[in-house]
Amino acid sequence: MSILKGKKAVIIGLASTRSIAWGIANALKGQGADLAFNFQNEKLEARVKKMAQELGSSVCLPMDVSSDDEIANFFNSLKNQFGNFDILIHSVAFAPSSQLEGSFTEVTDRDGFRIAHDVSSYSLTAVTKAALPLLNDNASILTLSYLGAVKAMPSYNVMGLAKASLEANVRFLAYDLGPKSIRVNGISAGPIKTLAASGIKGIKTMLDHMEQASPLRRNVTIEEVGNAAAFLASDMASGITGQVVYVDSGYSIVGMSLS
Ligand SMILES: NC(=O)c1ccc[n+]([C@@H]2O[C@H](COP(=O)([O-])OP(=O)(O)OC[C@H]3O[C@@H](n4cnc5c(N)ncnc54)[C@H](O)[C@@H]3O)[C@@H](O)[C@H]2O)c1
Repeated sequence: MSILKGKKAVIIGLASTRSIAWGIANALKGQGADLAFNFQNEKLEARVKKMAQELGSSVCLPMDVSSDDEIANFFNSLKNQFGNFDILIHSVAFAPSSQLEGSFTEVTDRDGFRIAHDVSSYSLTAVTKAALPLLNDNASILTLSYLGAVKAMPSYNVMGLAKASLEANVRFLAYDLGPKSIRVNGISAGPIKTLAASGIKGIKTMLDHMEQASPLRRNVTIEEVGNAAAFLASDMASGITGQVVYVDSGYSIVGMSLS
């Protein structure tokens, strides 16, 4: 059974074959969806276009989510090249590297705070707003969060605050758009070695810790996050909105681990 047959999905945040967006794109394609992509800047253009082509997509347009003009241009071009669609994947986050190492109190500054929240949380509101005129009935919007939204930990610092904002964003968007039959959810993924994760000091220690302390005693893969995303994006999840679903080998439920 292909649970996304006939659905069209726009994926924001593909950068490499390690990206969570790549795992999601493959899972959505595998379930029958047609795909369109953005690329953040010229540096990523050729690589993202090549990956899009591998998944049978020729729609791959520029958009830096920190620019209102680029968001508007993206959805204008998308309207002509892709038309209305059913699924919006937001797999984007950024904070300056200076913010992601050392004492939270010492390293966090106004600019870092602003940028982290702008790119990692406000962008979900911004792209949702711009996508609305193109969304079909029963559309599904999905974003990516991390445990740092609800628990304190080293290095993740201001990105944890931005993810807390993102998760509240999911709830407010879900509440607002529910009457239009649009669902909004998040996936809180366990740590995965991607380009973005490499910017967080101590990511290797986080990955090792997951292997010892999570109930499944292993890390999760982008394929597993992709499969959960395909389910949440599909009509099989038609009763689920405003939720953050953990795909983390169960780590978030552990109070104390003896291993
Ligand atoms: N890797 C992990 O351990 C992990 C765990 C939980 C959640 N996440 C979240 O998953 C999402 C995807 O990250 P990833 O780990 O796949 O890393 P990634 O580096 O592959 O993807 C991050 C994407 O964000 C994009 N991006 C950053 N700033 C942007 C901007 N201004 N405009 C447009 N795009 C921009 C990048 O181009 C890139 O495509 C992020 O929200 C991240 O916080 C990651």
